[in-house]
Amino acid sequence: MKLSRKISLLSAVACGMMVAHGAPHAHAAHGSTDPADEKARQVLAHMSLEDKMSLLFSVDGGGFNGSVAPPGGLGSAAYLRAPAGSGLPDLQISDAGLGVRNPAHIRKDGAAVSLPSGLSTASSWDMDMARQAGAMIGREAWQQGFNVLLGGGADLTRDPRGGRNFEYAGEDPLQTGRMVGSTIAGVQSQHVISTLKHYAMNDLETSRMTMSADIDPVAMRESDLLGFEIAIETGHPGSVMCAYNRVNDLYACESPYLLTKTLKQDWHYPGFVMSDWGATHSSARAALAGLDQESAGDHADARPYFRTLLAADVKAGRVPQSRIDDMAQRIVRSLFAQGLVDHPPVRAPLDVVTDTLVAQRDEEEGAVLLRNEGNILPLAPTARIAVIGGHADVGVISGGGSSQVDPIGGEVVKGPGKKDWPGDPVYFPSSPLKAMRAEAPAAHITYDPGTNIAAAVRAARAADVAVVYATQFTFEGMDAPNMHLDGNADALIAAVAAANPRTVVVMETGDPVLMPWNGSVAGVLEAWFPGSGGGTAIARLLFGKVAPSGHLTMTFPQAESQLAHPDIAGVNANNVFEMQFHTDQELVYDEGSDVGYRWFDRNHLKPLYPFGYGLTYTTFATDGLVAGYHHKQLTVTFNVRNTGTRPGVDVPQVYVGLPDGGARRLAGWQRVKLAPGESRQVSVQVDPRLLAHFDGKHDRWDIPSGRFRVWLGHSAMDDSQQVSVHLSGRTLAP
Ligand code: GLC
Repeated sequence: MKLSRKISLLSAVACGMMVAHGAPHAHAAHGSTDPADEKARQVLAHMSLEDKMSLLFSVDGGGFNGSVAPPGGLGSAAYLRAPAGSGLPDLQISDAGLGVRNPAHIRKDGAAVSLPSGLSTASSWDMDMARQAGAMIGREAWQQGFNVLLGGGADLTRDPRGGRNFEYAGEDPLQTGRMVGSTIAGVQSQHVISTLKHYAMNDLETSRMTMSADIDPVAMRESDLLGFEIAIETGHPGSVMCAYNRVNDLYACESPYLLTKTLKQDWHYPGFVMSDWGATHSSARAALAGLDQESAGDHADARPYFRTLLAADVKAGRVPQSRIDDMAQRIVRSLFAQGLVDHPPVRAPLDVVTDTLVAQRDEEEGAVLLRNEGNILPLAPTARIAVIGGHADVGVISGGGSSQVDPIGGEVVKGPGKKDWPGDPVYFPSSPLKAMRAEAPAAHITYDPGTNIAAAVRAARAADVAVVYATQFTFEGMDAPNMHLDGNADALIAAVAAANPRTVVVMETGDPVLMPWNGSVAGVLEAWFPGSGGGTAIARLLFGKVAPSGHLTMTFPQAESQLAHPDIAGVNANNVFEMQFHTDQELVYDEGSDVGYRWFDRNHLKPLYPFGYGLTYTTFATDGLVAGYHHKQLTVTFNVRNTGTRPGVDVPQVYVGLPDGGARRLAGWQRVKLAPGESRQVSVQVDPRLLAHFDGKHDRWDIPSGRFRVWLGHSAMDDSQQVSVHLSGRTLAP
C-alpha cells in the first residue's frame, strides 16, 4: 500500500472522518458569550436561509483573466454583496500579504506601498516591526476601500526553491507563527480582516492545484500546523484560507481533519474558512468538511458549488441547516470581531511618505549581513565605489504573483514583455545607486549595468570597492528550477571579485541561493525583495547609518543534494500553467517535522549559512546561561553584552533538545539593542509545546520525562553554550 494511502487512512482514523458524515460540527457560537458572536446571532436571527447562503460565496472581483469588476466591486480578488437590509458591509476582498494588489491594473488609482518580502520581515525577528508592517498595509487597504486583506502566508518553507517563499516567514513553526501572527494583528488593528493562508502544506508551487502533500499527521501537528496554531493565537485572524493542494490525498478544502477536527475543535477557531481561488471542488463534501465560504467561484471553480448546488444539498437533506447557520455565524462574527461593521473604510489618499518609511525600516531590520571580511562594511563615505548590475540605477526587484503591488511612481524597468503569468519582474522605483549617492555625497560612485562583464571589470578595477547587485526573480505558480542567481550574475560576481577582491554583493532574492563566489568576495548582504523603501534601506545599511540586524529564518544550503528532497518532480514544466496542474503528483514529506535546520541537525549536515545566522557592525558576547523550571514553566536566562565599538542589535536564540535526541528546536529568542559596552540580562520563556511530542491518538501534547538540552546561540549550528535540565513528564492541558 502506498505510504500516502497509509497516512491518509491513519489520518482518517485519527481525525474523526465521521465529521464528514453528519456528526456534530464545531459550532463556533454554541455557548459563546463573545460580543461578536452575540451580535452575529442577533443579525442572523432575522435573516432568511437564502440571505444566509448569499454570505457563503464571493464572486470574482475583477482582473482575473481579463474579467471586470462586478457592480459594487472596487476591482480586486473578490467581492461579496451583503444581504439588503442586513446592516452588514459588502466584502471588498483584496490581495495580499505585502501590500494592496491591483490585479491587471484594474483600478486607475491602485498603486500602493509594498513591504519587503515576508522573509525580510521575518528575518527581523521583531514582532513589533511585523505588527507595524501589517498595520501599514492594513491602513492602505482600508483607505482604498477594502475590508478583507488576503495576507498572512504562514506555510513553512520546506524547500529553499519554493516559488512563494518570499511571501512566507521561513522554516520554523514558532518563528513563523509569532511573526506572521504579529503581521495579522497589525492588519486587523485597521478594521480589516486578515486571512491566514494557505492552510495547509502548500509548501511548493509545482502541481499545487492537484498534488498531495503526504505527511504523518503527528509530524504535521509538530511543524506546519504548529505554525498556523501559533499564528492564530498571536494574531486572531478573522479568516483562514484553505489551500489548493491535497493533504494525505484529501483536498485541503475538503479535509475534516484540517478544517473541523484540528482548526475548529482542537484550536477552537471561531472565524471562517474561505477557499483559495479555484480550490473548491464540491458543495456538500466541502461544507461538511468545514469550508465556510467559496471564493470567486463564478470564475475560479468548475461548478456553482456554494452558489447554487449547496442550496439543493440543504433541500435534499445532505447538508443540515445547522451547518449553514454555523457557516454564516462564523463569517458574520468575524465582521463584528474585526470592526468591519462599526468602522467601514473611509476612502482617503495614502500617506506614501509615512508608509514608505515603514517599508524602509522593515527592510533595514530584515536584511541579513552574511559576510563582512576585513570589515569592508560599512563603506567609507569618501570611497570610490563602482556600483554594478541589478538595475540598481533605477530600482529594486519584487516577487511575482498575487502578492504583487503596483509601484507608486510606476514601473522603472521595461522587461522582455512576457505575456503569460506572472509577466515580467516588477522593479520598485527605489534606486540603491541614487540612495547611495544621497547617503555619501563625498563618495565617488559610478554605475555599470553589468551586462558586459569586461566593462564591469574595468569599472571595478578603477574603484576602491565594487558593489554588485544580483537578483533572483521568484513568483507564485512556479518553483525555482535551481538555486542560482538570475542571468550572468555568478560569472559577473566572480570576474569582478577577481579584478577587485574588495567586492560586496547585495542579493535581491526570493529564496536562499548558491554562492559559488562566496569565498572570493569580501561582503555579502541578503536584501531579499527589498520593498518600496528598499533602495534607501540598502544604502543606509551599506554606509552604516543603520547597522544590519537581520538573522536568517531559512537555511542556505551548500548544495541542493543536502536537501530532504533534492529533486522537485515536474519543476521543469514548459510553462506555469502546466506546472501547476501536473496530475496525481504526490510528495511524501518523510522528513516529518524536521524541516530545514532540523533536517540539517538530524543529519549532521553543514550548510553554507545556518538558520538564525546574521552579522552586524559590532560584536556581542553571551554568558551566564541558566535554565530553570518552576511552576511548569521552563525559563532560560542569560546575559548579553556589546563587546564592540558601535551600537547594535543582537538576536540570541534558545534551542532545546528532547530526551529522545531528536533534532533541536527553536524555543525562543530575544532582540536586544545595546550600546558599546552595555550588557543586559535576558529571560526567555519556552513554549511548552516545543518540549513535547504530539500524541495523535489522544490529541494532546506530552512532555516526556528526562534530560533536556538547552542551547543558547546565534544560529541553529551554534553549540558554544549549552546546559541541561531534567523535567518530569506531563500532559499539557488542552
Ligand atoms: C491565488 C493565491 C492566493 C490569493 C488568491 C487570490 O491563487 O493562491 O494566495 O490570495 O489566489 O488572488
